[in-house]
Amino acid sequence: MMSAVMPKARADALRGPLIALTDIRKSYFNGDLETPVLHGVNVTIHHGEFVAIMGQSGSGKSTLMNILGCLDTPTKGSYVLNGREVEKLSDNELASVRNETIGFVFQGFNLLKRMPLVDNVALPLLYAGVSMAEARKRAAVKLQQTGLGEFLKRLPNQISGGQQQRVAISRALVCEPALILADEPTGNLDTATSSEIMNLFTRLNEEQGMSILIVTHEPDVAKYAKRLVRLKDGYVTYDGPMADAHL
Ligand SMILES: Nc1ncnc2c1ncn2[C@@H]1O[C@H](COP(=O)(O)OP(=O)(O)OP(=O)(O)O)[C@@H](O)[C@H]1O
Ligand SMILES: [Mg+2]
Repeated sequence: MMSAVMPKARADALRGPLIALTDIRKSYFNGDLETPVLHGVNVTIHHGEFVAIMGQSGSGKSTLMNILGCLDTPTKGSYVLNGREVEKLSDNELASVRNETIGFVFQGFNLLKRMPLVDNVALPLLYAGVSMAEARKRAAVKLQQTGLGEFLKRLPNQISGGQQQRVAISRALVCEPALILADEPTGNLDTATSSEIMNLFTRLNEEQGMSILIVTHEPDVAKYAKRLVRLKDGYVTYDGPMADAHL
């Protein structure tokens, strides 16, 4: 049992890993043609970590993120997410584990154009069965935390790209997930706005203990993370502290 007085680091250790990937292999099949993409990935990520995944285009980063996000299944290997063996879950169980455990952030923000910001952020709560009034209240709190409390009723096209990404991050956080998965979250942003978003991720990681996994091509973005996993042609070629990595 976790007690309220237990230090967070110790409580995290008792919970076990957030993500345990063992010998994950993934091939895509087109008829008889097999394209192997991941060749046996072994990665363990603990609660509270901030990890960047880098690698050349086509190295398998998005393929790995899709598996981590339970949006796709590996061809072989074991994935344990927060103590649950993903391959043993039914489709319904998988959907609820995904909704409860993971918040997604995408390169293109993926906001609904005709919906005010507060409703964009409230949407995952509505899917989870929360009432409209309560969902809007919690969405407003998240938007305040990401610095957008003044803009609740604006539409996505009435704010900047960086602000749109902060809305998407608020939406990812609204169900209180254990993990944020972000595939190239700064890919559509200029340098100054990218560092604003990365500062927000850093704050969420350091102040709230949020576990964060981002994919990026940019060394200047990756270096905000504390650990680097580098992929090359579907193999992990580096996994260690960001400080020791050659970016
Ligand atoms: N649905 C698919 N069917 C067949 N091959 C695919 C499919 N999706 C991806 N691939 C191939 O798998 C490999 C890895 O793709 P993936 O999207 O994971 O790369 P990535 O590292 O995310 O690249 P990028 O940096 O360009 O986003 C590529 O060679 C790609 O062509
Ligand atoms: Mg990709």
